[in-house]
Amino acid sequence: MLENKIVYLNGEYLPLAEAKISVLDRGFLFGDGIYEVIPSYYGRLFHFQQHLERLENSLAAIRLANPYTSEQWHSLLEPLLDAGRNQYIYLQITRGVAPKRDHAFPENVQPTVFAMCSDIVPFAGKDTGIKAVTMDDSRWKLCNAKTITLLANILHRQDALDQGSAEAILVRDDYVTEGAASNVFAVIDGILVTPPKGNDILPGITRDVILEIAHKNHIACREDIILLSQLKSADEIWVSSSTREIIPVVELDGQPVADGKPGPVWQQMDQLFQAYKQSL
Ligand SMILES: Cc1ncc(COP(=O)(O)O)c(C=O)c1O
Repeated sequence: MLENKIVYLNGEYLPLAEAKISVLDRGFLFGDGIYEVIPSYYGRLFHFQQHLERLENSLAAIRLANPYTSEQWHSLLEPLLDAGRNQYIYLQITRGVAPKRDHAFPENVQPTVFAMCSDIVPFAGKDTGIKAVTMDDSRWKLCNAKTITLLANILHRQDALDQGSAEAILVRDDYVTEGAASNVFAVIDGILVTPPKGNDILPGITRDVILEIAHKNHIACREDIILLSQLKSADEIWVSSSTREIIPVVELDGQPVADGKPGPVWQQMDQLFQAYKQSL
């Protein structure tokens, strides 16, 4: 039962139904916090150090001290994992419970730390590909931090779903940033391209793994701006994230991407990605 699942909250492991926080928690009142999502394959956390580095950067971006060392994070998360399953850790840190609601940072307040583990459910549209729609990126200038303030992303994703698509591909000043909850790749003139890191995209761990695999396997790739017009005529489009992995986009804004089927570069990358996961 979901309610019996054991989660971590502020130093304790307890059933989900008993994990409670105060309504004065700044995560609840202000969205004042950050999070991480870390896959775990058969009990082993995938690219754990990279996820922790990003966690550290997200904390620094909101000026919150990291409450634990890498080793402490590892020992804290390990009891939540099941060696027989593919899962992901959801980890959230907020600025904690302040005595009154005030925008200014509170003093002498402990952060709230919450972690839970869930099964990775294979994404249904992966093998056939998904539809995506482009839309103006309405988010702020801290997209490189994994903050819990996800309202703009939620509205973008819902807008896409309402249009019968699985993902929104966001565009700022005519260039592609990323998906509502994913990074974007395109195959343009035979080269795999993904937008460069900056404060307009989340530096996805899956994105880094794809680039690493591409380099090792001599798949031509570069980190470069993708114009909306280039995306619209790309030979392949993919979106990537930790829980869905690499998903081909076969229809963009109602038009087929190339022949409307997952492309050969995606096929190759997906096989290499699966082999890489097995090898760890
Ligand atoms: C906005 C955004 N971009 C990119 C990603 C992909 O990041 P990762 O590959 O680390 O899961 C996510 C993941 O949820 C995301 O929410």
